[in-house]
Amino acid sequence: MCGIIGYVGKQNAVPILLEGLARLEYRGYDSSGISVLNGKGNLHVIKKIGKLAELEKALSALHLRSKMGLGHTRWATHGQPSDLNAHPHTDCTGTLAVVHNGIIENFQELREELSEKGHRLVSQTDTEVIAHVLEEILKENSSVEKAFESLVKKLRGTYALGIMFKKDPQTLYAVRNGSPLVIGLGKRECFIASDVAPLLKRTRKVIYLKDHQWAMIRSDRCGVKNFSGQKIKSKVEHVSWRLEEAERGGFEKFMLKEIYEQPEILKNVWLGRMDLKKSDVRFGQEMLSSREARGIERLFIIGCGTAYYAGLCGKYILERYTGIPVEVDLASEFRYRTLKLSPGTAVLAVSQSGETADTLASIRRAKELGCRIISIVNVVGSTLTRESDAVIYTQAGPEISVASTKAYLTQLSAFYLLSVFWGRARGEMSLMEARHLLTELIKIPEKIQWVLDHQDPIKACARKYYSYRNWFYLGRGFNYPTALEGALKNKEVSYSHAEAYAAGEMKHGPIALIDRNFPVIAILSQGGVYEKMISNIKEIEARRGKIIAIANPNDKVVSKFVNDVIEVPETLEELSPLLNVIPLQLLAYYMALYRGCDIDRPRNLAKSVTVE
Ligand code: G6P
Repeated sequence: MCGIIGYVGKQNAVPILLEGLARLEYRGYDSSGISVLNGKGNLHVIKKIGKLAELEKALSALHLRSKMGLGHTRWATHGQPSDLNAHPHTDCTGTLAVVHNGIIENFQELREELSEKGHRLVSQTDTEVIAHVLEEILKENSSVEKAFESLVKKLRGTYALGIMFKKDPQTLYAVRNGSPLVIGLGKRECFIASDVAPLLKRTRKVIYLKDHQWAMIRSDRCGVKNFSGQKIKSKVEHVSWRLEEAERGGFEKFMLKEIYEQPEILKNVWLGRMDLKKSDVRFGQEMLSSREARGIERLFIIGCGTAYYAGLCGKYILERYTGIPVEVDLASEFRYRTLKLSPGTAVLAVSQSGETADTLASIRRAKELGCRIISIVNVVGSTLTRESDAVIYTQAGPEISVASTKAYLTQLSAFYLLSVFWGRARGEMSLMEARHLLTELIKIPEKIQWVLDHQDPIKACARKYYSYRNWFYLGRGFNYPTALEGALKNKEVSYSHAEAYAAGEMKHGPIALIDRNFPVIAILSQGGVYEKMISNIKEIEARRGKIIAIANPNDKVVSKFVNDVIEVPETLEELSPLLNVIPLQLLAYYMALYRGCDIDRPRNLAKSVTVE
């Protein structure tokens, strides 16, 4: 996830771009850059690693003036944050500049093709290849319009692009395929942006570019075409959002926005890694090899908070498909254990930020013990990624809400992909099994969307129960970690005492607490432990506990004895954690809302815990 801004008009573009980037910084903030045309008509590109202030500092000395320009704030996906990897990117001759949000799936093969033709690529990004592919196309085709038609045929993946040409100082180009892009229509000035947040101060009239469309934008007009070259009559819409609302895409809180982003983000995790035809998963950049997979005799998964719970679910997934014995530990405990590890032991660290102190200390300890370190991380270039032998990036984009939602879901997704890769490499997973899992996995985003579209029962439960101070969350097997994560969400954002148990453990003590003032969330989706769960929940019913079931729509049994049912679509039991956690995120969110809590910044918590 990155932020794009573009301007063409009568004013100096530089301060407008900087102001726009400040409004987009929540989309990514590891580096930023702008491209403008200077007085002599040359293309000027200025890029800096770090926060926007670094770019502002660099620009203040240059006194640039330009009536057109592009800006970008980056959230690294390919290549660590650096001046060189920051956008905009240019071609060999510096005649065009490109900014990009998304992922070019076939960038490696395009890069090789371009290098063979003599192009010199200076960054590690997927974006830079776009500039060079366009340069190559334009050598044979002087029409920009035709060039775009050829360009989009060559690119695989998702992209929102802003492009400017040195020889055409009055026209900005915008291209959209899978990543958002908005055109702002002002008075004799136009803008492009990743969302409306940076436009609101300047105009309320916008065109939302759709997938497979590109636009030619001048100060006084804007033409939109589809990828086949047909003209499109786009609807001009009026935006009535307030500025703060706009940064959150119209959502009241970042937590809710991030919950809603999940279906789209999951597709990013699959992109370029899932090979449905071969029923396999490939990890290109991640330095994971099949040989190594065969050599792993024992695996420790470590993490903190939500990442630890993702690891716990990862244990069930990896044990199911890879045959590797897995142990999961809290990083704050692992680092102090007395361990003698054999050479075949690997450590897998899970972390959104890649900066959590206990997780880092644990992998350093594991390294001393001779283990290979693999990590599942969201933030590219973070300390954990630099100190790991192999990294799987979760590609969730920046997570702003302190309570983690989309990072958790992408961490689980990484485990499913890893289980196919390792399971196949070790001969533990049949081709049929892999095909079945992957085919069901790609249906998950639309099933999550179904939950998001049918949330009235969740809101109703939140209204009914938000004043209760004590909760149990129960699950078994794959959904025991889901119960833990659901209870954590409740604690974090609505400050209730919520405890999770493996449902079979209730009778060994906790059931003593149950009475009519104790709501119990029971994860009752279909699968091998369903009947066991029903027996456990019946014991709660007998003690007059209030039961809220997370169940599948065709379940005729559950609704007969529980107080409330929240439905989630059916999927494989192994994949059900991806769906069952969504209502639990929403329930925690709405209960916190009704309790008047500061949802995005809960008391006493921090997003990234860099102290022990
Ligand atoms: C903090 C955050 C949690 C997060 C945990 C681990 O406690 O509030 O949301 O799960 O740290 O963070 P990491 O960045 O390592 O995933």
